[in-house]
Amino acid sequence: MCGIVGYIGHNQAFPYLLDGLKKLEYRGYDSAGIALHKNGAIQVVKKTGKVAVLEEEFRSQNTESTLGIGHTRWATHGVPCDANAHPHSSKSGNLVLVHNGIIENYASLKEELIQKGYSFNSETDSEVLLNFIEDIHINNNCSLEEAIRIALKRVTGAYVILLLSKDYPDTLFAARKGSPLVIGIGNGEHFLGSDASPMLEFTKEVVYINDYELAIINPDQLILKNLGNETLTPYVQKLDMELAAIEKGGYEHFMIKEIHEQPQAIFDSLRGRLDPESLNITLSGLDKIKDKLINARRVIIVACGTSWHAGLLAEYWIEELCRLNVEVEYASEFRYRNPIITSDDVIIAISQSGETADTLVALENAKAQGATIFGIVNVVGSSIARISDAGIYTHAGPEIGVASTKAFSAQLTVLLLFAIKLAEFKNSTSEEIRKQLTKELSTVPEKVKYILDSTIENIKVIAKKYQGATDFLFLGRGYNFPIALEGALKLKEISYIHAEGYPAAEMKHGPIALVDETLPVVFVATKDRVHEKIVSNMQEIKARSGKLISVVTEDDQLAISLSDEHIKIPASHEMIAPILAVIPLQILSYYVGIERQIDVDRPRNLAKSVTVE
Ligand code: F6R
Repeated sequence: MCGIVGYIGHNQAFPYLLDGLKKLEYRGYDSAGIALHKNGAIQVVKKTGKVAVLEEEFRSQNTESTLGIGHTRWATHGVPCDANAHPHSSKSGNLVLVHNGIIENYASLKEELIQKGYSFNSETDSEVLLNFIEDIHINNNCSLEEAIRIALKRVTGAYVILLLSKDYPDTLFAARKGSPLVIGIGNGEHFLGSDASPMLEFTKEVVYINDYELAIINPDQLILKNLGNETLTPYVQKLDMELAAIEKGGYEHFMIKEIHEQPQAIFDSLRGRLDPESLNITLSGLDKIKDKLINARRVIIVACGTSWHAGLLAEYWIEELCRLNVEVEYASEFRYRNPIITSDDVIIAISQSGETADTLVALENAKAQGATIFGIVNVVGSSIARISDAGIYTHAGPEIGVASTKAFSAQLTVLLLFAIKLAEFKNSTSEEIRKQLTKELSTVPEKVKYILDSTIENIKVIAKKYQGATDFLFLGRGYNFPIALEGALKLKEISYIHAEGYPAAEMKHGPIALVDETLPVVFVATKDRVHEKIVSNMQEIKARSGKLISVVTEDDQLAISLSDEHIKIPASHEMIAPILAVIPLQILSYYVGIERQIDVDRPRNLAKSVTVE
């Protein structure tokens, strides 16, 4: 969480910093601030609210400077307010810092500093870290660089820090542990960001900073060291991403743009992996750990949120097709539960951002216990991609809308490819079924396109009609149960309506008490092996006057006749249907959010990349 930017070079820093913060606003938008180094002084401007508020504040200010840092905040320690906004200034006013992450031992460090006479202007852990560095710098009589190293060795938790000093008009200090930091290499200039999006239009050459590394950056030079003061060689990578991919391209919101990009995202995730002629699947990542997987005692899927829902569906697929034991774990529980892991286990990590702190630490723990890590990640070069022994990228392209849409359908695509290929290796499913699935999977992009073209107008009407509801229930069975969970999560995220996802039959054991004529119940009821069962569940809701909104296979007259509202999707294999069924639910959430005038790309309290636990 939190987005950070920095610039040092011969051009003006402010335009890059402001525009960069706008691009990173998906990481948090409780407050924003910028610090500019000018003539031996550091000008700090910070405001509660979105970057637009900061921009307004800067209108009357002189922004001349070639060195600066900026921050957009997702609050952890302390409420969103001007005082808690970054950048923070040290007690002497000499140092200025932005921070993304959490300093876990900040309370004891703060106490230490209070004993020495320090007082604080904010409630943040970041201001504590800054003054801790300053205190070492002054009292240990060491260079600022050395003080940063000593301080960071004492710190537990996660951080990316960017630091300016009045005494260093030509230097930007940056360090990382656990949170992401990219440095773009320009011609006599360096661009810093939490991800590469702010720097894309200026350079394609980047360095991803690793944990426990400290960068000392001048306009013409990037010096990289570890905390032991050894100099490292920066590994420069070429970015394969275009600016257009992170702009709205005529859509009102990123979320609806990304919903519409799903045919392409799925196609790109299949490209080069599924041959539509021979129906062969090639997954070089899987080949790399083929023997491990064939002989695995079990697969443990670790993820959070929407990615966890993708993992839940993958459990059904892998167990069915590969006859392999699968467990699906919330990363945040798994990492603290002292789970029994052996070198015969394969951990599949699913993550759009590749930076989710809980998932990352869960993987580190599992790796330390000998497990093999397989990453299914969207952001190339991210921390989870790098910690994985092997993996498959999802190729959904940059996802900016806070609510995940195209990354989810791309994850499902890749996970089903994975399950089919592993079934081939294990010889656990007949070739006929595998080929049938592969063939149908290759038609998913065009079916998703058809759903987008044929359902939106109908869904807009449904959204308008039910936008005033206070609660929604989402029900599904079998392969559609994870989709019901995902539908509920999407709706609550961007409409602020309470929504619960439940297995349709389990509903009788409690949630049915909620049902009355005011409760919309969304059924994910495509034709599959449990179709008759879910139709009975629909009858049970109807008998209690609940309002039935159902996602159905297009020729399913029975389900249609039971429903108050229905959304038709094309017929498909029961294992493929959930990839299609989620699309109308995403669209429904989007239009309910629009009806309720929610900022759907930046819903309250959320952030795209959850780099704190
Ligand atoms: C929901 C959503 C979140 C993420 C979760 C994990 O729309 O986006 O629930 O799925 O924070 O994030 P990643 O996939 O980046 O690890």
